Amino acid sequence: MSEIYYPKKEMFTDPLIKNMCEYNDLVEEFEKDYEGTWGKYAQEKIDWFKPFDRVLNEDDAPFYKWFEGGELNVAYQCVGRHLKTKKNKAAIIFEGDNGDQRTLTYRELYYEVNRTANLFRNKFNIKKGDRVVLYMPMIPEAAISMLACAKLGAIHSVVFGGFSAEALRDRIIDAEAKLVVTADGAFRKGKPYMLKPVVDEALEEGCDCVEAVCVVERNGEDIHWEAGRDYAYNELVENESVQCEPEMVDSEHPLFLLYTSGSTGKPKGVQHSSAGYILWAQMTMEWVFDIKDNDTYWCTADVGWITGHTYIVYGPLAAGATTVMFEGVPTFPDAGRCWKMVEEYQINQFYTAPTAIRLLHKMGVDEPAKYDLSSLRILGTVGEPIDPAAWKWYYEAVGNSNCSIVDTYWQTETGGHMISPLPAATPIKPGCATFPLPGIVAEIMEEDGTPTPVGEKGFMCITKPWPSMIRTIWNDPERFVKSYFGDCKKDGKAVYFTGDGAMMDEDGYITITGRTDDVINVSGHRMGTAEVEAAVKKHDNVAAVAVVGKPHEIKGEGIFAYIVLKDDEGVADELETMKEINTIIKSEIGAIALCDDMAFVPDLPKTRSGKIMRRILRSLVKGEAITQDTSTLEDPSIVGIIEDILKKEC
Ligand code: PRX
Repeated sequence: MSEIYYPKKEMFTDPLIKNMCEYNDLVEEFEKDYEGTWGKYAQEKIDWFKPFDRVLNEDDAPFYKWFEGGELNVAYQCVGRHLKTKKNKAAIIFEGDNGDQRTLTYRELYYEVNRTANLFRNKFNIKKGDRVVLYMPMIPEAAISMLACAKLGAIHSVVFGGFSAEALRDRIIDAEAKLVVTADGAFRKGKPYMLKPVVDEALEEGCDCVEAVCVVERNGEDIHWEAGRDYAYNELVENESVQCEPEMVDSEHPLFLLYTSGSTGKPKGVQHSSAGYILWAQMTMEWVFDIKDNDTYWCTADVGWITGHTYIVYGPLAAGATTVMFEGVPTFPDAGRCWKMVEEYQINQFYTAPTAIRLLHKMGVDEPAKYDLSSLRILGTVGEPIDPAAWKWYYEAVGNSNCSIVDTYWQTETGGHMISPLPAATPIKPGCATFPLPGIVAEIMEEDGTPTPVGEKGFMCITKPWPSMIRTIWNDPERFVKSYFGDCKKDGKAVYFTGDGAMMDEDGYITITGRTDDVINVSGHRMGTAEVEAAVKKHDNVAAVAVVGKPHEIKGEGIFAYIVLKDDEGVADELETMKEINTIIKSEIGAIALCDDMAFVPDLPKTRSGKIMRRILRSLVKGEAITQDTSTLEDPSIVGIIEDILKKEC
């Protein structure tokens, strides 16, 4: 599709960036004076308790430091400061899976955050720099706990509620968390599900660092209670004062850790800063979502992912917006749930993942027409490339051909959007993330740093540091440098390597073509092949395994495993083994990492030095012709053998 869709100017009143001339002017302003322009925005947007005296310190690159000398409090930036002008404005609107509704104004949110911060400080002795793991459902207390940590200068690490006890334990131990905040459980598709038992199991071994577990009541189901360790949030928080002095932190003080998958090894704790992160969260909220005072904004992500951090909690609240939090799933009780909510809350910006769009399209192609969606102005997508069919349905059926679709490209590590249309300004080509945002210097390069020619695929790199970038990997600065600042250099300096492929067309439009490393993008979530393989290898009868992504109608990519058994006794045995392997994956990682399909093969294609040729395996599962040179393989005949096995299975 190469049509261009122009923004409908009548949909926008006084947007911050009105047209491409203004966009170009801003880009130029950054080009002329990079530090000065960032400094100007930081001064303007952040309520500093102590002003910064240096914009960017590159002395210890790539450990960049932004806004040194400055002091702030992120909870104040998101809540406290808004009391002057918006105390009675809705900050969070919650809708539960079971239809529960709750609205917290900025004043109410302020009190809840303060009481929770006091509880953390007084009862659990949480101080600046302590780590708090949150294993929470999508309820306001998740956002309140994040902000309570920020109020105290404690570092939160939210673990997605779909991760297993094992995965939770790994993260608790790596972060050396002192406190775990969780809930009894929550509701999904009208039924209760449990979280606390997963925490109990996680804490069974190796978590000596954890002193207390603070349990929010959500579904009221019976749970195990460990005296002296477990504390009931709802009872205790009642007794805390609604006043709480914010703890001032330096600009670079870590705001949170968020674990994400890499191409090798265990998930890495991506560390974000306070000032740089919150600045970009707020600026992108204003630029990309054109947030206005009377808007109601809804992002359907889970707070366990970066999208939930930046675009449910921190960005919207820093911008003083009204943010909707939804506990349920988009297809329950039917595929009209989201559109019903858009109508009821008069949502102006709706932000979701292509996987959800594909699912809603498939399950309820005519559902949007049943609701009044005329409040919508901007539709956002994130997490994976969006295919033309899904884009078109989103644009026409949901947006009534009036809304701008912002295809936002970014990562856990980038903190906020990197490449995205500006809703009132950018002419959109479907499937294109379009142009880098002002202040972001994104370039497509070859591995050696030379620019990739127009129309060809290269590596997406960010060649200048930006305020909301990852600061380090928790406990592993060497891995930080190795993972992101490799051989790709510009002007002698290593540039930030995203791990994504990208292509620019003759008009300068950027299309993201997907991961170039061993990371699989399942429903917009990152899964490391090494992690899944490590889980599969725990099965007694598995001799070798290689996991690759396979195109999937709804998920974008599904997980496909090639398995070599130690002892293969036939098809019945293989079916049983498949089930057992998925059971192991579920307990080691969580249901999101389950393999959609597996093939049992006699061997894997390996080079003579023993390296598995994943590119061949990726091509085979897609049914693509093998273009790679197979003569260097230890046993070139294995490629044909695997091909035959896959054909038979189809
Ligand atoms: O491959 C890119 C893909 O998602 C990866 C980042 O995943 P994660 O850190 O979990 O963050 C997801 C939410 C920001 C990227 O490396 N990705 C993200 N947005 C897009 C995308 N791929 C194509 N188009 C996008 N808009």
